[in-house]
Amino acid sequence: MIYSEQLLSKVTYIFKQKYNTEPELIFSPGRINLIGEHTDYNDGFVMPAAINRGIYMAFGKNELKTLRLFSLDFNQSVEININALKPIEISWANYILGVTSEIEKTHPLRSGFDLVFGGDIPIGAGLSSSAALESGVGLALNHLFGLNLKKIEIIKAGQEAEHHFVGVRCGIMDQFASVMGKKNHVIQLDCRSLDFEYFPSIFDDFQILLCNSKVKHALAESSYNQRRAECEKGVSILQEKFPDVNSLRDATITMLDAVRGQMSEIIYNRCSYIVEENRRVLKASQFLKNKDLKQFGALLFESHKGLSEKYEVSCEELDFLVDQVQDISSVLGSRMMGGGFGGCTINLIKRSATQDLIPELKDKYYKKYQNELEFYEVELNDGTHLINKNDYE
Ligand code: GLA
Repeated sequence: MIYSEQLLSKVTYIFKQKYNTEPELIFSPGRINLIGEHTDYNDGFVMPAAINRGIYMAFGKNELKTLRLFSLDFNQSVEININALKPIEISWANYILGVTSEIEKTHPLRSGFDLVFGGDIPIGAGLSSSAALESGVGLALNHLFGLNLKKIEIIKAGQEAEHHFVGVRCGIMDQFASVMGKKNHVIQLDCRSLDFEYFPSIFDDFQILLCNSKVKHALAESSYNQRRAECEKGVSILQEKFPDVNSLRDATITMLDAVRGQMSEIIYNRCSYIVEENRRVLKASQFLKNKDLKQFGALLFESHKGLSEKYEVSCEELDFLVDQVQDISSVLGSRMMGGGFGGCTINLIKRSATQDLIPELKDKYYKKYQNELEFYEVELNDGTHLINKNDYE
């Protein structure tokens, strides 16, 4: 891939200035998700991919018992003793401390390390800058201390860091996509068995276009955990009649209808969305295999409707953006992407139509919300990896 030279030289320069040695370098990507939203923590199916935007890290061991961290984006340093790893007030640091603490549980570190990082993923846009950071830290520790961690251990350390240091009870999709990404491929992942398959992302005359609403919802994290709890509530009600249902992955609409009287309308809606979304992912992979992009795109619109009306994780601005492209024939599909309450929509659009659509949408959005949309034409990329200096010098 083509790295951001500017970011690479910045993190390298600052690292050398601060710690007087030559660093090693890592690129860790953000992710998109074609379809399968909020299904990961319900043991379901997702279809993410790593992208060419992410986190750049310069790192090295030190002779101390200290983690010395510097965030370029926040222009802020943190120093923490390796024996005092616990969540702190500075939120970006918790992703790093969380992963280090998880890995430390089974692989005590022999010394501290230094880390300077910056990224080109817009923060809070639903592109998983946090998973990119976590996966990068996992690989950095693995490399520095020769830990021989399996990729899945790095993935799980990131997810555990979210649970214990950040307070988001997230699923495994983001970290999995960041670590396991493959150039020009999407991943279809079964979040229960962790079996996965790569699909070539050959969209011919079509491309993926992300559209950043620039909305960040302050309640996103607590609402996320609330959705997860609502799904668990649904499962516990289902289990009274269907003891074999261990998660919504095992449920069907017929089963849900059989216990509908025992659950509130809200719980029913949350659960039926998940059951339907899982089905959509399986259909979507079939359509991708058959190169039926039209039907594939229609599923994106359906997914958005479910996310907005039944799962209630969209927001006015995201609904507006999907609405605007719904009847444009060059747009095959569109939906909000990621946890929700703001961030990006993902659109499958005819390449030749992109340059006309961008200013048109920008204009409409600005008139309505006095906010500037941003667009990203992403490429699908390899997962978290060390950067060989010869690659770019
Ligand atoms: C966030 C979480 C993921 C997943 C998505 C929604 O990105 O980190 O685990 O649940 O939301 O699909």
